[in-house]
Amino acid sequence: MQVTIDGPAGVGKTSVGKKVADRFSLLFIQSGQLYRALAYGKLNQMDYSSLALNPEGDSNLELTIGGEEVTKKLTSEEIAEEASKLAKKKEIRALVNDRISRIARDQDVLVEGRDIGTEVLPDAEVKIFLTASAKERAKRRKKQLQIDRPLKDIENGIKKRDERDQNREISPLRPADDAVILNTNSLDESKVVERVASLIGDYLKD
Ligand code: C5P
Repeated sequence: MQVTIDGPAGVGKTSVGKKVADRFSLLFIQSGQLYRALAYGKLNQMDYSSLALNPEGDSNLELTIGGEEVTKKLTSEEIAEEASKLAKKKEIRALVNDRISRIARDQDVLVEGRDIGTEVLPDAEVKIFLTASAKERAKRRKKQLQIDRPLKDIENGIKKRDERDQNREISPLRPADDAVILNTNSLDESKVVERVASLIGDYLKD
């Protein structure tokens, strides 16, 4: 089974996706982490093709580049910024998409990102697109990462990334025609989890 959750930066794809993936024993893949791992590789002069995805058990994924385990080293703004720049490149997107679709052929997956339902797994059985205002997303990010910067700064960073993700030529951020769009502005995380879980439950019943 393939489930996709797409949406802009900071909308909650990761926290929601992880919980839903655990509940249904789906391998959880954060596609942004692959771009971030490549950004880490770039900043450390590593070969992009050495990026590897190693599933651990049912739902966890470990990422290595140049043989180095980088899963927990990818949260900085510097890496996010570099990842968003790299994500504009066709050959980089092709590399990431190839790694993801190979795994999704053999295992039940929940993949989150920007273009998973549109480009990477267009035949996925359940597709979700999460939205929330830039201000709401900035508030969540500040709280989650305990960032010691003014909210407005964080919001501006998010807007800049939105702009880049929505307007790039290849695979811009947009919902697939058959995605269910969930506006999460006034929904807390547990409600979003329940909505997504019930969409998967409905699919499994049919
Ligand atoms: O989701 P995350 O913030 O970790 O993603 C880092 C960057 O990777 C994003 O800003 C975006 O530019 C890029 N990305 C993408 N397509 C995806 C996932 C992430 O272009 N499917």
